[in-house]
Formats: sequence, C-alpha cells, structure tokens
Amino acid sequence: MTKPTILTGDRPTGQLHIGHYFGSLLNRKKLEKEYQTYIMIADVQALTDNWDNPDKVRQNVYQVAADNIALGLDLNTTRVFIQSQIPQIAELAVFFSNLVTVNRLKRNPTVKTEIEQKREKFGEEGESLTFGFLGYPISQAGDITILRANAVPVGEDQLPVIEQTQEIVEKFNRIYNTEVFPVPKAVLSDAPRILGLDGNTKMSKSLNNAIFLSDSEEDTIAKIKTAKTDSQREITFDPVYRPEVSNLVLIYSLVNGITCEYAVSDLAGVNYSTFKQKLSKDINNYFSEFRLRRQEIIQNTNLIKNVLETGRKTVVLEAEKTMNLVRKAMKIDY
Ligand code: TRP
Repeated sequence: MTKPTILTGDRPTGQLHIGHYFGSLLNRKKLEKEYQTYIMIADVQALTDNWDNPDKVRQNVYQVAADNIALGLDLNTTRVFIQSQIPQIAELAVFFSNLVTVNRLKRNPTVKTEIEQKREKFGEEGESLTFGFLGYPISQAGDITILRANAVPVGEDQLPVIEQTQEIVEKFNRIYNTEVFPVPKAVLSDAPRILGLDGNTKMSKSLNNAIFLSDSEEDTIAKIKTAKTDSQREITFDPVYRPEVSNLVLIYSLVNGITCEYAVSDLAGVNYSTFKQKLSKDINNYFSEFRLRRQEIIQNTNLIKNVLETGRKTVVLEAEKTMNLVRKAMKIDY
C-alpha cells in the first residue's frame, strides 16, 4: 500500500529557531513514518517580499536545508527540494490564477496581516502591493498540488492559505471534471507556540529575541540570561498574565520532556537566576547532538547539494506526471 503524501515548506528568509523546531520540525520527523514526506524550501515565495535581497534568500536556502537534514530525517524516502527548481509549480500556478478572484486574494487574512506588517515595502495603504505577493497563495496551492499532497503540516497562521488551496482544488476538479487532485487537509502540530524571549509573539532575528538552531552553548547562555521575566518572585505557569515567565517554563518543559505543571512544581522556591542557569544548561543538553550534526552538515556543502539534487530529480518526475494529467483535463495536451 502506498502511503499518503505530505508537503510542507519553509521560507528561507531567516534562520530557523527553537520555535520552529518544537512547532514543526519535530513533527516532520514523526509524520515521515506515516506519510511520504516532501519538504520544500520556498525560495520563490521568499522572493515575493525579498525580490530586492536575493543574497539573503540564497544563503538561507542552505541554512534551512541544514536545519532539516540535521533532524535526522530518513533521506532514503523523505525528499528535501528547492521550489524554484520545479518549474511545473509556476506553470500550474498560472492555470490556477484563472480560478481565483482578486477580491478573494485581498480577503485572505494571512496575507492581509502580512501586508500590514510590511508597510515599508507595500505602502501605508498597500498602494505598492505587488501582484506576486498578493498572489502567493496561488503559487502555494501549486506547491501543494504539484505532488498531489493529501496533507499539509502548517502553523495556525497558515490555515487561511490552505483553505484557499482547498477552494482552488475543488474548483479545478469541478470545472475540468477530473479528480487529479485530492483536497489537501491541514495538519496542525499539537506543540504550544513559543514566544520570543522578550515575550513578543514572534521569535525573530530583527527583534533579537530568538534562540536559533545554529546558536552555540555560549549564545544560549547569554540570551537566556537577558530573557525578560517580571517582578513576581514565584515561578508559575500563567501564559495570559505572565507570558514571559510562562514562556521560559514552556521551553524548560519541552527540553526536559515534562509538562508545564510538573515543571512548576520542580521549580518551586527556585529564583530566576538559578532557573535561568538551569534552563540554558538543559537547552544546551537537549540540542547538543543536533548542533553537532548541524555543524558537520553546514560545512559539507556537497552533502547539502546532493540531498537537494536527489529531491529535485524525484519531484520533477512527479511534477511532470501531475502536469500531464492537468494538461489533459484542461484540453491543452496537444
Ligand atoms: N507560507 C509558508 C510559511 O510562510 C511556507 C510555504 C510555502 C509552505 N509553500 C508551502 C508551507 C507549502 C506548506 C506548504 O511558513
């Protein structure tokens, strides 16, 4: 029996951090047993808001590849590939763009929020919004369907984008009277969201509040030392009223494989300074093997290139099979 297919991806716009690790990377390792797994490095999508910074995108393609490979995925079956190396995705996106109205694109909550966050790029009123960025959900529908994926592991923020893929697939299958594409379902990871070390809802390089998977033990110690806490003395888990402290408790529980409740009882009477020392030590222990593997991988460009080339070869074949079915359904199989 063939396994169902999963496609997931990361935009190579920055390094991956421990939030990505617990929120999605670990889940990939788990899902690869049940699903034929494809992991795409979404360089084309990254360029939709970084078209003027191709160096950044290129560098991060290898970084993100290393993060994924260091997970210890089964590279005999799981494929890691670069989006731009599969031209069929762009071809499919052109056909899909006939099935999506501009109004529908403008209503997508994920894209709307991103446009608001990127004012310096797209203008105060969105007057400089590009066709490419507004339309990236169409291209993302192409990413998912080119492999006829059944499921897409994503974070909650991506649900509206997956919903748009589902609409496109349903419309395509109906109009062209075909069953080329399964309607893909979103798979949410059950890991709680990690906040930035300053309590911000996003861990990011520009906010200087993230622990990256490439960070050293010393980086980790320094970052945890300056992580925000509050003026109360007891360590409790109360994400609503004490987001910063609770976030540290959450990280502590994840790297120790215990619940947050257990962590709190474990930390009774402990002061922040001792807690932070313990926390950085436990993070460093947890990631020590991963970091060693990652370091070897990032220095071995040939290895990364081989993995990505194997991915490209497999995916191109699958993509061409899909496109043959698409062209037939659309009566352009001359
Ligand atoms: N939009 C996703 C993100 O920002 C990245 C992505 C691109 C993706 N193509 C995908 C995720 C296809 C899942 C499936 O995180």
